[in-house]
Amino acid sequence: MSLVYSAQRLERELGRWRSTGASPTVYRALADRIRLLLLDGRLPSGTRLPAERELATTLHVSRTTVTGAYATLRAAGYLTSVRGSGSVLSLQRTTPEPVHRDGVTAPTAAESLRWDLSQSAPPAYAGLAAAYREALEALPGYMPDAGLDLGGLPELRAAVARHFQDRGVPTAPDQVMITLGAQHGLRLVAEHLHLPGGRVLIEQPTYPHAVDTFRALKARLLAAPVDVNGTDVEAVVELLRARRPPLAYLMPDFQNPTGSSLTDEDRARIALAARSAGTVVIADETTAMLDLDRGPRTPLAAYGEQIVSIGSLSKTAWGGMRVGWIRGRRELLESIRLQRRSIDLGTPILEQLTAAVLLRDERTMVTARIEQLRAQRDALLAGLATRFPGWTLPPAPGGLSLWVGLGELSSSALTLAARAEAITLVPGPRFGLDGAFERFIRLPAVVPLPEIEPVLTALAAAARRVEDESPSRHRSAGASDTTVV
Ligand SMILES: Cc1ncc(COP(=O)(O)O)c(C=O)c1O
Repeated sequence: MSLVYSAQRLERELGRWRSTGASPTVYRALADRIRLLLLDGRLPSGTRLPAERELATTLHVSRTTVTGAYATLRAAGYLTSVRGSGSVLSLQRTTPEPVHRDGVTAPTAAESLRWDLSQSAPPAYAGLAAAYREALEALPGYMPDAGLDLGGLPELRAAVARHFQDRGVPTAPDQVMITLGAQHGLRLVAEHLHLPGGRVLIEQPTYPHAVDTFRALKARLLAAPVDVNGTDVEAVVELLRARRPPLAYLMPDFQNPTGSSLTDEDRARIALAARSAGTVVIADETTAMLDLDRGPRTPLAAYGEQIVSIGSLSKTAWGGMRVGWIRGRRELLESIRLQRRSIDLGTPILEQLTAAVLLRDERTMVTARIEQLRAQRDALLAGLATRFPGWTLPPAPGGLSLWVGLGELSSSALTLAARAEAITLVPGPRFGLDGAFERFIRLPAVVPLPEIEPVLTALAAAARRVEDESPSRHRSAGASDTTVV
């Protein structure tokens, strides 16, 4: 069954679609934006678009514009007309992508997208295969049991507890639950704590799949601004005080996508305000260990029992392992454990054993990852500075993301143009609400060193393509007037 989008809902998703810059006509701009939303997952395949007349009225454009946009999408195979269901978006394209005006055909198949910069996730840690081998040797010792464990293996919970203790947060193994990664941990905690339709405080921009989670739970989102220099802590404290949300979701260390962190003082302020408001704060520490040159800070969990931490080995070891954790009060974990049975029946034993092997020498793994990311970040920043003097580059003291200001260039237009250069990007608005951050792009520092120059060359070609299509918009591109958060 198709998901039905009203014209109002589609308008919200479209954001500032007219100003993307790359499209020569209004109907093309509308078609391009809908295509982008489909490609980056904001409009799921199968979504039913509103009737042409209804959308034209809502967007204050002529009916011909919407007809033209739908016809463009239909010709490109992104829209099908289903009898009785109207126009339905589809990613199963049946016709080839039309040739661009400059004669370059955009890639049609996944394999022709050579560089995937859509995920800020690095390849596996070099020591991972050896850790798996060691775990495999130990596995038969666990086979006499059923192997279903909602809390996690005691030895891994103890290892995660040590991970917190080493960072200055006293933690017992029964304050830890092992999960299938941080995303799973987030969903488990949010589902447990979130009253349907309740408010959730988030940073903006933020990690998109957290927003997906809260939206799936029908949350009402309250957004506090964050940029590459830090979070607007006044806004966080004020929203906690005035709106008393049951839940807040923050990334205290190397926030995704901005890379900024809360100061120790800000952590104390936020924890105090959350306690007064009765708010549980989910501290997402997925990138917390990737400290490239900032220096240690006290984990948010040290500031009180209302902080629930989620973490993962996805960034330090490998996303494909799917091991993460929740650290929180025993009673909270116990009730999440009971609820978890309706979702899954525990984390695979081999992966848990592998995680325990890796955490035995966490320092070595983290150091290797930091050295790799630091070299890649430095090379990427240097290359960007040379090729794109009008862009605003972030300090990026940790984590994987560079949150780059594009000057006057549209992130959505760049993302579409980059596809024709074999690069997959995620445009800035995917990290915001209601179309914000059109002048930003997140570039993850996960490109291997030998690939950085070819990636930058391709990116420059994509940027040129956007600029060539609407030259007047881009001449004034400057660093100083680009920051919108
Ligand atoms: C901030 C943040 N939280 C959670 C996740 C999901 O992590 P995992 O792979 O452990 O589910 C990611 C992955 O990109 C992330 O960046």
